[in-house]
Amino acid sequence: MTASPKRFLAAIAGHVTDRPPFWLMRQAGRYLPEYRATRAQAGGFLDLCFNPDLATEVTLQPIRRYGMDAAILFSDILVVPHGLGQPVAFKAGEGPVLQPVRDADALAALTLDRLHDRLSPVYETVERLTHALPAETALIGFAGSPWTVATYMVEGRGSKDHGTVKAMAYAEPALFDRLIALLVEATTAYLSRQIRAGAECVQLFDSWAGALADDQFRRLVIAPTQEIVRRLKAEHPDTPIIGFPRGGGVMLVEYARTTGIDAIALDTAVPPAWAAEVLQPLMPVQGNLDPALLLAGGAAMTDRIDHLLSVLGRRPYVFNLGHGVTPDVPPDTVAALSERIRTWPDRRPG
Ligand code: CP3
Repeated sequence: MTASPKRFLAAIAGHVTDRPPFWLMRQAGRYLPEYRATRAQAGGFLDLCFNPDLATEVTLQPIRRYGMDAAILFSDILVVPHGLGQPVAFKAGEGPVLQPVRDADALAALTLDRLHDRLSPVYETVERLTHALPAETALIGFAGSPWTVATYMVEGRGSKDHGTVKAMAYAEPALFDRLIALLVEATTAYLSRQIRAGAECVQLFDSWAGALADDQFRRLVIAPTQEIVRRLKAEHPDTPIIGFPRGGGVMLVEYARTTGIDAIALDTAVPPAWAAEVLQPLMPVQGNLDPALLLAGGAAMTDRIDHLLSVLGRRPYVFNLGHGVTPDVPPDTVAALSERIRTWPDRRPG
């Protein structure tokens, strides 16, 4: 197999590249003044996600500044509940607010019928990006995983302990499994359309995977991921899929072995030496610089970047953060990170 000329796709396909490719979760966002300007122009946050001109523009903003090896489509994981007909709003200072789905009637009101109709602006953005990106830059599509999206649908907002949704999963297993099945269906259809529009890789964000006991992790994280991957691979066998089961801990091994994903994204808490020994022999890994190092900057950041590159860079590896860029990060620190990775070949030990 010859390696893709795009460094990111080559690494995800299992090749060791001249230097590891990099991109950053939440690389487009409020830490960039040009994002804040476009965001103000759009009105609401969902208006930005559903405006192909502006969503294309904000996807490109970090690429222009820093030349990441991959761009991630600008959208949000909560466009899927919106596509299913659940009212979703983003309130300033509060984050997402949804009309909670907690019983059979609320679940029955959700429908796949208008999903593509409601999400068509996102597919249009992907299509435009295929023409707008530099030739060496890969395009990543994404969706939230069913469990993580369900936490917002049931809680009605971001929550720290996920008590309501976890209780529902235990107490009303048939109802909850229907919600997960609907999300498997919607997520697969949504990602399939992103791939058809030109996404070269897709990432499944399971941000709240770490909230689950092992039996529930198998039921609500591993099983739905297996099903999404199986269906996507049947249609798009050559499109790689990255899984990000944040906080998965020791369950990461079973997740990597059994879901069918092509690469695994690591959260901040995963020790790089352990990942190199246990996960990298199974598949390429992506991660996992502590996002807080983008606030610290300086030697604390560059020393840790070099550590990750030396420990994980011997095998297929994509440099990233362990979670997203936060709004308070100085843009110059991201420039320093980008420079440090680009110049790695000059410092790499023998
Ligand atoms: O640059 C990129 O990574 C692409 C765009 C992207 C966004 N959200 C834009 C966004 C991606 C991949 C996401 C994923 C997402 N969204 C996740 C999974 C990853 C993670 O962070 O764990 C989750 C859980 C969400 C749900 C979500 N969206 C929340 C909880 C919030 C509010 C918190 C916040 O940061 O404001 C959002 C809003 C959101 N999504 C913003 C952006 C740039 C900020 C909204 C704004 O501009 O006002």
